Amino acid sequence: MRPGAILGKREVEHPGGPLLNTAVWSLARISQSWQDGLGQDADMIGRAAAHAAILAQQGKAPSKYWVVGQADVGTQQGLRDAPPMRPAGYPLLLPPTSSLPALRSLDQVTEDELAAALGNLYALYCPLPPSFAFHQSSGSERGEKCVGAVATTAAGSSTPIVVDSGYVSGNEEEDGDWGDDDGDHATAAESLRADPFERSFAERWLTGFIARSEELTCFGTEEARDRAVERASCVLSSFFASTAAEEDKHAEETAQIAREFSFELLLSSAFDAASITAAAAASPAAVSDEGVKGSAHALTATTAAVVKVRLNDGLAGASSDDHTDVGLQSWGASIVFSELLCAAPGRFLGRILPTEPAAETDEAAALPGSNPKSNPRIVELGAGTGLVSLVLAAALPRLGISRPSLIATDYHPAVLANLRANVAANFPAPSSSSLHPATPGIDVCALDWSAPSPGPPLDEARADVLVATDVVYAPEHATWLRDCAARLLAPAGVFWLVATVRPNGKFAGISDTVRAAFAAVEGKNRPADGHRLAILGEEWIEKRKGVGRGDESGYRLFRIGWA
Ligand SMILES: C[S@@+](CC[C@H](N)C(=O)[O-])C[C@H]1O[C@@H](n2cnc3c(N)ncnc32)[C@H](O)[C@@H]1O
Repeated sequence: MRPGAILGKREVEHPGGPLLNTAVWSLARISQSWQDGLGQDADMIGRAAAHAAILAQQGKAPSKYWVVGQADVGTQQGLRDAPPMRPAGYPLLLPPTSSLPALRSLDQVTEDELAAALGNLYALYCPLPPSFAFHQSSGSERGEKCVGAVATTAAGSSTPIVVDSGYVSGNEEEDGDWGDDDGDHATAAESLRADPFERSFAERWLTGFIARSEELTCFGTEEARDRAVERASCVLSSFFASTAAEEDKHAEETAQIAREFSFELLLSSAFDAASITAAAAASPAAVSDEGVKGSAHALTATTAAVVKVRLNDGLAGASSDDHTDVGLQSWGASIVFSELLCAAPGRFLGRILPTEPAAETDEAAALPGSNPKSNPRIVELGAGTGLVSLVLAAALPRLGISRPSLIATDYHPAVLANLRANVAANFPAPSSSSLHPATPGIDVCALDWSAPSPGPPLDEARADVLVATDVVYAPEHATWLRDCAARLLAPAGVFWLVATVRPNGKFAGISDTVRAAFAAVEGKNRPADGHRLAILGEEWIEKRKGVGRGDESGYRLFRIGWA
């Protein structure tokens, strides 16, 4: 390019530059060719360079080395009058850091310069699918409004219409034969679009531009100002809208619903090999390939088995019109609790385990119920996918309880349906010809903590153990759970409650409500019989890497019982 004097605004002005600009631009009023002979607008030079590159790529360059001189810049066909060009549906995209005028000197920028800058941003961040990136004309002039990356007409047409990016060429012939170069343009645009620095620069610029737009005097009309602000808002909002690709990815992730968990179950030396083998055979779905670790003949020391559970999981949020289906995924608290439970069953199940040594830990010793039942009752509240109940169902036979009464509850219809499916998948009903004893079934039933009206089988007996994980995420939950537990827990029972701690956002401080709820009973709510549910122990469990969501910092494990 040998364009002669480059006209236009510079970051650092030459002495006398503005004067020279004005003088040369004035020549165009007399004759355009006079101006072309002396100097060119930077904008025009840029377009001419791009046009020359396009011709070269098309094999239409006049020679291998080809100088575009100052007069050529202005005389290239259609350049002056045509809107800025783009090759084959892909605009010539410029990085925001180099194309946006400084915010502090916005008052010196012309309306056209602003329109070009915004057009570039729009084309960069609100790209159109290639199928309709061609053959478009200015939508903004027809009063179309943009929503995210597409435009809708004022009349509400849903047809995606391009709002003129400022780069769309009127030359449709050129659009046809770009072949593989389209891919290069698309790749370059893609990497520019993905650049986080450029994006945050653009975001700050757009925010600043919108904030100052009322004061800017460069706009010829109020409509022009509105159009510019609308385009800026449109690009800005696209930063916060998920793209179709992101939505596809999300859909793909949520479609992967089968999830397998395995936990190492610590078995006490008190069990004999026969009970373990029989129990493992009774729950085939949960028997690991490894079977029982350790020697079945030498069970004098502690041994371990692997408990496996397979779930329909990760479906929470799949239905866009239901935000209460959180129980369609297994939360970190249930995974952490299952792990703790399997690592130390005696600690959590205490004396309901028939062969557990009486006082292995202080907590186990403190658990009432020294007469273990053959079918103790365990109820899970807000069971969600049912991970904890399923782990218990798989573990209990191996711990010597072959006929536990397990009840998994929730209040949400879709969650209950998924819970039933998970139970059926892990513990299929034994056929009548089965050689094995009945597997420990799990009853699934509806129970709302806010209005617990326990019907069968919940009303048949009180629970020896209540379990609830990640069920305190609204201010009223802890109180509801306390009152619900008071109706369900046997006098000698224990309630294990795991509250997830989310230190930021709308859930911040919610886990504190557990202590408050149980303390509140001290006062006027103290039952007439003098018994109340109280927190007997509390433990902090650190979040583990790869388990639970990023907003979780850890878990509070509460041991609650009658006091
Ligand atoms: C965050 S999920 C936890 C699910 C499961 N315990 C876990 O840890 O993966 C909360 C569960 O509580 C259930 N839930 C919420 N409010 C409830 C209520 N009032 N009564 C019964 N269940 C409720 C939800 O349906 C959901 O299954």
